[in-house]
Amino acid sequence: MKNFEFKNPTKILFGKDQIQKLSQEIPQDTNILLLYGGGSIKKNGIYEQVKTALEGYNLEEFGGIPANPEYDVLMEALKVVKEKNITFMLAVGGGSVIDGVKFISAAALYDGEDPWNILVEKIMPEKGLPFGTVLTLPATGSEMNSASVITRSATKEKLAFSGPGVFPVFSVLDPSVVASIPERQIANGLADAFTHVLEQYMTYPIDALLQDRMAESVMQTLIEIAPAIMKDPSDYQAAANFMWSCTMALNGTIRVGVPTDWAIHMMGHELTALFGIDHARTLAIIAESHYTYNFESKKEKLAQYAERVWNITEGSIKEKAKAGNQKTIEFNQSLGIKTRLSDYTSNYKGAASEVARRFEERGVSGLGEHRNLTPADTEKIVEMAY
Ligand code: NZQ
Ligand code: ZN
Repeated sequence: MKNFEFKNPTKILFGKDQIQKLSQEIPQDTNILLLYGGGSIKKNGIYEQVKTALEGYNLEEFGGIPANPEYDVLMEALKVVKEKNITFMLAVGGGSVIDGVKFISAAALYDGEDPWNILVEKIMPEKGLPFGTVLTLPATGSEMNSASVITRSATKEKLAFSGPGVFPVFSVLDPSVVASIPERQIANGLADAFTHVLEQYMTYPIDALLQDRMAESVMQTLIEIAPAIMKDPSDYQAAANFMWSCTMALNGTIRVGVPTDWAIHMMGHELTALFGIDHARTLAIIAESHYTYNFESKKEKLAQYAERVWNITEGSIKEKAKAGNQKTIEFNQSLGIKTRLSDYTSNYKGAASEVARRFEERGVSGLGEHRNLTPADTEKIVEMAY
């Protein structure tokens, strides 16, 4: 096991009716900005619950943060933060709203010229404007981590940053919110969380026994509850297990002391930037070819995954590893997620060279757990995913 440091300061309020506790978490003399997305919270009652919980506060609102949070929109929100002297933000939404608020949190205290540089220069803010979240969509883990991914559609860029200053102060996780989520987003949440575990697990053996078993148990739980939550998102017990699995998949606990990959996400973000494909679906597109291309260096963990997560006990390491890779594809397909780029766009032919060109241009190289994948390798991987 590698050496590690670990700190996660986010307080979790999990369960039914936890939204009512918002006022316990935010001091009364606070100027709050409530931020949300395209309006789903106004249809499913979450907006009303939040407003009721925050009665008596000095409350401003900013709605309209789109999926794949858009830089220009976030800069508008930043203006409101400054003009209204906001001292606390409350993100009510999925990963896009929460990521957007993390960016505003960092930008509010940024003293450089152009906040976009936080992303370009991968600045890791030590301090941000404090914020809490009310999670409405289990998927990204953003509610309990310090990562944020921001899109600039004008230049077709999608870039990430993270830092100790942009953890949420608290996050409210009420599984009842899952009832209103459309099937497509439930499937996305399952596939995204599953891939988060894979990115931190599918590397090489390092004798981190507990981290391996925790990762495997998150995947097993997602597999177990997937049919129930896909069939009926108002199944509270399934929703509760779904929500906590998504948080545990990316709150830092399974990552400690082990190598991590994240190349699938790096390539996936480019496919979202280029084609607007949902984040989770880009991961399902890339996963198979990434694991096939890097089969030799990953086969031990692929085989362990096949054995422990899918009960594939017959065959050699190689045979089990191949079967494990196939199981991941089948899992994504069982959620109704298509796994080839050509399933999403007829314009896919130049995608691989374009992804490689963009990585080259930005100096992105050394991807994967061995930090040895070049832009030329990513070109081959994306091409294998056509
Ligand atoms: O905008 P509204 O109207 O709220 O609708 C949203 C949106 O259209 C809807 N939705 C959310 N909660 C709902 C609901 N509809 C009905 N009922 C509810 N309770 O769902 C749609 C998608 O929302 P979004 O927030 O975009 O989805 P998700 O949580 O999957 O977030 C995706 C974003 O997170 C980034 C992705 O790149 C993408 O930009 N990621 C962030 C990560 C992180 N911070 O750690 C890691 C991930 O790997 C990922 O990259
Ligand atoms: Zn993801």
